[in-house]
Amino acid sequence: MIRIGSLDVSIELREVLSDGQPVRLGSRAFDILALLVAADGKLVSRDEIMRHVWPATVVEENNLSVQINAIRRALGAERDRIRTESGRGYRLILGAHSHGQATQGREEGIAISHSLPVARQLLPPCVPILIGRDDALTDLTRLLRDSQCVTLVGPGGIGKTRLAIEVADTMQAEFRDGMFFVPFASVNDDQSALHALALATGTTLSTGATALEQFGRDWTGRQALIVLDNCEHVLDVASATAEILINAGGGMRVLATSREPLRVPDEITYLVSPLALPAEGDENTAGSHSAAVQFFMARARELGEDLPSDKESIHLIGEVCRRLDGVPLALDLAAARASVFGIGWLAANLHDRFRILTGGRRTAPPRHQTFEANLDWSFQLLDKVERKVLRWLGMFVNGFTINTVCLFLARAGFTRLQALDAVSGLVSKSLLTLEQDGPAHRYRLLETTRAYALQRLDDNGERVNMACMHAALFRVLFDRTQDDWSEEPTVERLSEFRREHRNLRVTLD
Ligand SMILES: Nc1ncnc2c1ncn2[C@@H]1O[C@H](COP(=O)(O)OP(=O)(O)O)[C@@H](O)[C@H]1O
Ligand SMILES: [Mg+2]
Repeated sequence: MIRIGSLDVSIELREVLSDGQPVRLGSRAFDILALLVAADGKLVSRDEIMRHVWPATVVEENNLSVQINAIRRALGAERDRIRTESGRGYRLILGAHSHGQATQGREEGIAISHSLPVARQLLPPCVPILIGRDDALTDLTRLLRDSQCVTLVGPGGIGKTRLAIEVADTMQAEFRDGMFFVPFASVNDDQSALHALALATGTTLSTGATALEQFGRDWTGRQALIVLDNCEHVLDVASATAEILINAGGGMRVLATSREPLRVPDEITYLVSPLALPAEGDENTAGSHSAAVQFFMARARELGEDLPSDKESIHLIGEVCRRLDGVPLALDLAAARASVFGIGWLAANLHDRFRILTGGRRTAPPRHQTFEANLDWSFQLLDKVERKVLRWLGMFVNGFTINTVCLFLARAGFTRLQALDAVSGLVSKSLLTLEQDGPAHRYRLLETTRAYALQRLDDNGERVNMACMHAALFRVLFDRTQDDWSEEPTVERLSEFRREHRNLRVTLD
């Protein structure tokens, strides 16, 4: 065992322990750590690391930073033992180590103040290696240098928190006064949100209406990054905090994650997309896989099961990834099932997705233990009308245009304004995704959200009524379109109609 800070590392057993407890480190990160240990304090060049860890593949340099960050995270308070030498490589400091000394020359060209408390280790420890997201990481670091408040927005389980952690970790050295991670996930009212804020930032918040003003004064003139995580259910406190911090001076930055934007001045909203999916029919067994497939296979591997990589299995994994829309949380839960029952079984049983997508990690928050709980969390944040509309929209298979949905809701007695409000509410809460279709927009429920909506329709005994209403609407639309055609429907006209209403299968008899 080699001692590095508080970690004990066994190169032979490929094991890392912290206070006797195993620390999860991906195999690439471990290879790099072993290389740095073997160099015994000498500089190891970036090229050398790349050649050693990715011998047969050309990978982006960003991958290396991601792995280095993972090792730093595992080192926790001793993260500065891994030194970056500008443009050259990395060095591991094994011997006795004074924290202040190491931070002085840390990342290049960044002055570290010693007069203010510095909090650099407040990221959640031991998150799995980031997969995909190279572009997002580049975009977000750039955005956060230029703007004071960036909010990562997207549906539950899409990877907002994971991405925010990576962005913050990558940028730590740029913040003289440190970086603070405020987890709002487990609070459920404004008071406990304020408490979480005080706890995470080491501030004493006074009680009463001026608590946040005083908090803002404390941060005035500082250079720090505050991550406000999982804001959607405490939007009032989160947005007030963000606004106060933005006003505390140009050195302050807020990185928020939320299913819904904070709507504060100067906020940049960054929509987190699903992991990249394989193209249909891509059964590539050799080269690199799409991010979603990589993620799926990595998750199964972590559970001790290397999934087969023959053509048929890769095809099925790709299909499962597509049916789960590339949403990491869903893929995570599905990979756990595949590791026990096999990918063939999973693909054949995915229609019963809520019963299958359960059994999340014991350490995950309850809303990430099952996919249904994840959607329940979003559903509870909707108002009454939005809930109803979400359920009903479950009837549409391949999305819809705003005009179609207004006509549909009109049949249920909604005014056009009410319909527009409900749709825009569902979009802003990340339950409807927007797709550009030329100048028009189309809206779509992710497949799992649609399955959830249908289940709620069944629970409310509305399915038959809604199916009839949906069919009647399209009958009318079809008749109307036919009236506009001077002659009989032709194949071209039918395909035009089909293009607009993709959820219908209309045939020319
Ligand atoms: N790109 C990624 N690489 C590796 N793991 C990821 C990635 N994106 C998400 N995850 C994992 O998927 C799960 C859900 O992601 P999370 O960031 O918590 O979602 P959200 O914050 O959007 O609800 C977590 O276990 C997270 O660590
Ligand atoms: Mg989150």
